[in-house]
This record gives sequence, structure tokens and C-alpha cells, in this order.
Amino acid sequence: MRLQEQDHDVFRVLSAERRRQREGVELIPSENYVSEAVLDAMGSIFTNKYSEGYPGRRYYGGNENVDDVERLAQDRAKRLFGVPHANVQPYSGSPANLAVYVATCQSGETIMGQNLPDGGHLTHGWKVSVTGTYYRSVPYHVKPDGYIDVDEVGRLAREHKPKLIWCGATAYVRELPFEKIAAVADAVGAFFAADIAHVAGLVLAGVHTSPVPYAHIVTTTTHKTLRGPRGAMILVTEKGLQRDPDLAEKIDRAIFPGLQGGPHDHTTAGIAVALGEAMQSGFKDYGRQIVANAKTLAHGLIERGFTLVTGGTDNHMMLIDLTPGGPGRGVFLQEALDRVGITVNKNTIPGEPSSAFYPSGIRLGTPAATTRGMRQPEMERIAAWIALVADAIKDYQLPTDQPSRGAVLRDFRRAIQENRHLEAVRADVREFCLKFPVAGT
Ligand SMILES: Cc1ncc(COP(=O)(O)O)c(C=O)c1O
Repeated sequence: MRLQEQDHDVFRVLSAERRRQREGVELIPSENYVSEAVLDAMGSIFTNKYSEGYPGRRYYGGNENVDDVERLAQDRAKRLFGVPHANVQPYSGSPANLAVYVATCQSGETIMGQNLPDGGHLTHGWKVSVTGTYYRSVPYHVKPDGYIDVDEVGRLAREHKPKLIWCGATAYVRELPFEKIAAVADAVGAFFAADIAHVAGLVLAGVHTSPVPYAHIVTTTTHKTLRGPRGAMILVTEKGLQRDPDLAEKIDRAIFPGLQGGPHDHTTAGIAVALGEAMQSGFKDYGRQIVANAKTLAHGLIERGFTLVTGGTDNHMMLIDLTPGGPGRGVFLQEALDRVGITVNKNTIPGEPSSAFYPSGIRLGTPAATTRGMRQPEMERIAAWIALVADAIKDYQLPTDQPSRGAVLRDFRRAIQENRHLEAVRADVREFCLKFPVAGT
């Protein structure tokens, strides 16, 4: 029986999510829309199988087809990125990164990564992540201009002699300085891991530097600019194997049996399909268009009076700094944009004057909108809508005394529901979006 007939409750919610994705502009830079083919693989009977181990070395029988699909995914990843080894089993980006620690460090040893409020990821040593409690984390920062402080990375590395240094970010709008951080890591004998979760698709399209010549290990999620299912990969480079000939084996053992059990074979199939799509020439056009769209959107926002961290973008995302209107206002703009069907996320900005829960920035990006076929003229319209919405809520400030925040937010939520200008923008956004279909909706 199909879902529609069998389970009305789940089907109703799924239908609502289909409508939300179809009728809204998705600007969260870590999200994307997968193809029908990836959806087919993800919804396939590969989900029924258990396959602990690796191709040709499984603990269960009946894995001949899973072996084939996993080898396809590995071979495509190796060919696309130009690396000798690929592990496609990590359940997602965070366990992939954890496996890098398990393969290269003992708990208590020193590691370095970009500070989370400066744009780094939780798994690069932030204090509430196990990567910041099981290891001694020495974070590095961005300078007041928003660019990574490479001099500080060198200074801290010489002082603390880390075992592992990360370069990669979740909210960083400029080219990642792989070569410079590799030089620091090489000088102090550290492993260098590049986390390209956000920019993997841009690397493949040739619009972001590849870390492969510089890093020992490269991790990436598969569901952001790579436009595959939710999952991850760990790549070991030639440089990594020269540093430690057992590195690939150590990574594989860190994933299984170190951290995980059976791989999600339907995801592996989906990754193979997405990598097949990335091999087609159109993918390079897609990557180039993501960046062209981001630059147009950034320019459109600046023209309308917004302040952007670093003054623009090199990649697929940008960070609006809302502090000129007061600290902690990200929540207001995120919710007001949600109201009109434009989805973004509130985010800390470098030197955040408020808190992670009430941050002063908005992070937005173009990978998903670009997948729908939106181009520069559409980015102009989106920038104009964002400006209109920001203007409609410009008088709202986050109270400094915490107890009164609840009441102000309740007031604000009621006001944006009742605002007729926002209602009219919602209708325009819906009509606009319906011209750009989303696979699976
Ligand atoms: C740079 C970076 N690394 C790792 C991850 C973790 O990925 P996941 O959410 O799949 O665990 C993310 C997710 O946003 C990320 O941005």
C-alpha cells in the first residue's frame, strides 16, 4: 500500500512540506534540492540491507549488489576529486569529522579549528561538542575584517603544537586559505584536514580552490552544494598517504567498527547518483551560476543598505550583519522572512555582541535557488523583497533584559501575521516560486 493510502497523518505532513518547498524561496546555504534520480535511489530497497564492513569484506551475506553500488560511489568520488581513497559510509558530516579525530589523535591531544562564532563548525573543536571536550581545542579566529587570521593560526600552532588542524567552515563567505594553513600544519608536523562540506560542489565546478593538493584528509557532506542525499565522505589524499601509508585504513577503521555499524546503503546509492550528476558538464555551469547568483544577491543587498560581513562573498553564501540596527535582531528578520516564504537562518557574526540564541546576523545563500533555475534577475527580486521585509520590522529591538524578550517576541509574531504588506509579499513570492519547479514536489 502506498503512503497516501496507508498513513494519512504522515502523508498530510509530507504534503505540507512539499507545498512549503514548492512555494517558498530556500536560501539556507547548507540546503539544496536533490534530483528525481537521487530521490529514487534514496527511496529504494537498498534501505532493507545490512552490510557492516566494506566491499568484498562484509559480515553479512547477500551483499553483492551493495558492494557494486558502494564501489561505484567510491570510484566516482576518487575520480571527481582526484584522490586515491574514498570512504562513503559516514552517516553525516559530524560523524565523518569525528572519524578524522579517531584516526589521527588520542583523546586529550591538541587540535585546532576555526572558532564557531567566527564561522567554524561545531565539530572543529567547539566547547559543547565532544571534539572540544575529548580533545584540547585551541580555536583560531577571523580578523575584524572577517577574513581568517592566518598569522594567528601560525602563532597558535607554533605555541600549542597541535596534532590536527582543520580548515573549513559553516559560515565563511571567502575563499578558504587551504595552501596557507597547510604550510602551518606542515611546519609543526600536524595532520591537515580540510572540511569542504559547504563548498564541495564549488570545488568540483572549479570555482573554489581544491584542498586536495594541500590536505592529508578531506571531509565533505554530500547534501549541500554537492546536491546529493544527506550523508558524507572522507577522502584521503596522496599527500595523506605519503605522510602515513596506513591513513586510509585508519580512516576506514575509525568509521567501522570505530564509530558506526551498518552503512545506509540507500544513501550510498544516492551518493553514487549525485556524484554521477556531478560528472556531467552541466554541473560546472551549476557551480558557476551559484557563485554568480550569490554575488548578484550580495550586491543587491548592499545597494539597499545592508551591511555584509567582509563586504561581499567569494562563494555561495553571505552573512548580513544587522548590528547597525541593534544587536540580536537576527531572530526578527528570520521570522519575518519566513512569514513571506523566504527561508534563511539567523546566525552569529564575527565579534557577536549578542548570543548564539539571539544572534545579530542572517546567513543566506544560493545553492537551492540556483538548482531551481533562478538566475541574476531573480536574485534582484529576492534582494528587493528582503529589503522590504527588513524595512517593515525595522522598529523591533531585542530587549536587553531577558525576561521581557518573550513578550516582545509574542507581540512581534502577532504583528507580522497581521501585516498586510507582508501578506502581499507572501502572495508575490508564492507566484514567483511556482515558475521554478522543485523535483519531488
Ligand atoms: C563545515 C561543516 N562540517 C560539517 C558539518 C556537519 O554535517 P552534518 O550536519 O551532516 O552532521 C556541517 C553542517 O552544517 C558543516 O557546515
